[in-house]
Amino acid sequence: MGFVVGAGLRKRFVSRERVGFLRSRVRVVEALAGVDVEIGRGRLLSLVGPNGAGKTTLVRIFATLLLPDGGRAWVGGFDVVAEADRVRKITGLMLYPDRGFFGRLSGVENLVYYGMLYGMGRRDARRRALELLELVGLYEARDRPFEEYSSGMRARLGLAKALMHNPEFLLLDEPTVGIDPVGARRVREIIRELKREGRTILFTSHNLYEVEELSDEVALIVGGRVVARGPLGELKRRLGFEPVAVVKAVCGGEERLLSRGGGGGALAELIREAHDGGCTVLEAYVREPPLEEVVVRALGGA
Ligand SMILES: Nc1ncnc2c1ncn2[C@@H]1O[C@H](COP(=O)(O)OP(=O)(O)O)[C@@H](O)[C@H]1O
Ligand SMILES: [Mg+2]
Repeated sequence: MGFVVGAGLRKRFVSRERVGFLRSRVRVVEALAGVDVEIGRGRLLSLVGPNGAGKTTLVRIFATLLLPDGGRAWVGGFDVVAEADRVRKITGLMLYPDRGFFGRLSGVENLVYYGMLYGMGRRDARRRALELLELVGLYEARDRPFEEYSSGMRARLGLAKALMHNPEFLLLDEPTVGIDPVGARRVREIIRELKREGRTILFTSHNLYEVEELSDEVALIVGGRVVARGPLGELKRRLGFEPVAVVKAVCGGEERLLSRGGGGGALAELIREAHDGGCTVLEAYVREPPLEEVVVRALGGA
């Protein structure tokens, strides 16, 4: 069984919606309509899906911020409802946008405050905060007030905050949204480092290139349902995408690009055919279909 498990999770929101001046009607949103997820220890699962799909709702249930209406979920064997305090001890959360920082306090002060909320002594909290500021590349900026931080710096401070109590499990909800490319790359590097440390991660992002780069597994979620999930390669195959063999060759002074579905076998075939046809092979490789193509088709966009 996975380190993190969700089984049949359901969540429904009921809200009032104005229709005209005086009338309002009840709007019911099935945010999660029976979601199963599982993450092995030390692995990274990405949730991918359109806005409103239910990703943040799922994250909030695992963070014990929201009670499910049905189904159950466990982190490290602890039930997120019945043993919420045990779950919180081993779970770090980064939500976007993070409204939990004080603008006038410095980066280090914010982290110390947060660590003390988690029951750390001031000195321990400070030591841990400085260590994490180093890890996320904010050590130099540690004494500057949070309100002066750029959005990339804020995101990195959010990561440091999520790590203050050294959690084994991390919930990272759109940690790179609204950050410039350099900042986003730094966040990805930190996430990779956290993976190397063996932490288990649930990640969401609309940037499918970074999902591809970081994920062990992906779950596609639409309208509160997981429509496909699995390791990246498997997921692509299941949705009908196979790797494509590509050979670039020169034939009779003319450059040609030959391609065929089917991976390694197809590549050998193409190379042989090129040779037999008196061509010189310049380049030969197998190209995985980009996740973006797969997701767009799975979501009915193409
Ligand atoms: N507190 C809430 N009250 C009412 N509706 C909500 C609430 N939180 C989320 N929803 C609705 O639930 C659905 C899923 O939202 P969310 O989990 O935030 O999606 P995602 O993170 O995938 O964009 C959306 O339709 C959203 O409007
Ligand atoms: Mg969201």
